[in-house]
Order: sequence, then C-alpha cells, then structure tokens
Amino acid sequence: VKRKPLVAANWKMNGDRALVEVFTNALNQKCFSGLDVVLCPPFPYLSLFNAETFSIGGQDISHLKNGAHTGDVSVAMLQEMNCKYVIVGHSERREHHGETNEIVAEKAHRAVSEGLIPIICVGESLEVRKEGFVERFITEQLQAVVSVMSADILQQCVIAYEPIWAIGSGETATPEQAQEVHAFIRGFLADYDEAMASRVRIIYGGSAKPSNATELFKQTDVDGGLIGGASLNTDDFIAICQAAI
Ligand code: G3H
Repeated sequence: VKRKPLVAANWKMNGDRALVEVFTNALNQKCFSGLDVVLCPPFPYLSLFNAETFSIGGQDISHLKNGAHTGDVSVAMLQEMNCKYVIVGHSERREHHGETNEIVAEKAHRAVSEGLIPIICVGESLEVRKEGFVERFITEQLQAVVSVMSADILQQCVIAYEPIWAIGSGETATPEQAQEVHAFIRGFLADYDEAMASRVRIIYGGSAKPSNATELFKQTDVDGGLIGGASLNTDDFIAICQAAI
C-alpha cells in the first residue's frame, strides 16, 4: 500500500502574527504534490492563515463536546477555523497537563468521529528506553487508542512516534531506531487489523531537521514527520517537506 507522506509543523507556544504571514506566503508559493503539509500554530493564530497549498491543525482539543471547561477548545471550534488536523497526546501535554492514555484516546476518538484527523503522539522517555521497556510502554499508549476505535476509524488517524529524549534536545533517533519503533507500531496495529495497519500513516518527531530528514523519511515505515523547532524557519521547514516527497 502506498501511503501519502505527511509533514506537520508543531509551533508549540511560539510564533506571532508576523510569522503567520511569512509562512502563509512561503508555503502558498510551493506546490507539494503527493505530500500533505500541515501547520499547527497556537490557537489564536488559526484563523489568520490563508492556506492554499497546505492544511492547518490545532495542537490539542478537549475530549469533551462543549460546556463549562474554562480554557478548553472543542473539535467543532477547530472545524469552524478550517482545521483539518489536530495533535493529541503530545508528550508535553501528557507531562505538564497530566493527560493519561485514556484521555488521549478519548480526544483522538472525539476528533476522528467529528471529522478531524488526529495526529496521536506516542513515545518513551530516556529512562524507559534505558530499561528496555520501549515496546511495553508504547503498547500501553496504543492499547488505550485501539480499545476505543474500530479499524475503519483508526485508519483515518495519524500516529506520531516521538521519543521524548529526542524532542528539542538536538539528539535525533537514528533512522534505524526510528524504523524499529515504527515497524513495531505497525505490527501492533496489524494484530488488530492488517489492512488498516498498512494504511495508517506513522510519522516521526524529535529533532528532525533538513540534515537528517531524508534518511529518516527513507525508512519503510516512516511516513513523514512532526516538526518542532525546525518548523519555525520557512527554509528549514520547506526543505524538510521536500525531503518527504
Ligand atoms: O511536535 C514536535 C516534536 O515535539 C519535536 O520537536 O523538532 O523541536 O524536537 P523538535
């Protein structure tokens, strides 16, 4: 099965109006045929993009539909702002906002059942890797997701493998390390439904940059990237996008 690669920018809590304009102009001049490009800025900037050659996405959503939840943002709100994607379960949200595997699974389920494509993040800490528990840790994260979704629904989701030790650290997983975990994730999904597993896109995140993107994206089970730091510079981000085509 040929999977369409996807490169998503996660600006995290960075950027401003000026950067929105710089990116809109730079990306709209490009034609990314055969590639999905997604920009995930902070919520206040979502409506400022006039995206023609790319899509926009949120960095998080509530697992609830609406109501008295101060500070939260719903799927419907993101859709009104023309979002097509939403990141859920980023390790920074799991760590700093106490998001459990179950909450992340609920968020993903709500997103996909209301028409957004969730980019579901999984990945282990250095401690877990050193102890040799990578597969067990990721299995628990994925198990929560597969237990609330049918294969049909899951097929529409994107999984992002982001080893926590590689995020913002300058230390990237080697292409072999990334491929090993991506293949494990696809294998885990295949036990559930083989056709779905062969179609789900699994992207890599963690200090991806122009100098390492080509090798990472060459790996059989790496279908693109979720880019943090390098997504704040148009030249770097466009170079990473081009490496995925
Ligand atoms: O969502 C993006 C990841 O956390 C990667 O961030 O590219 O700055 O390491 P980074």
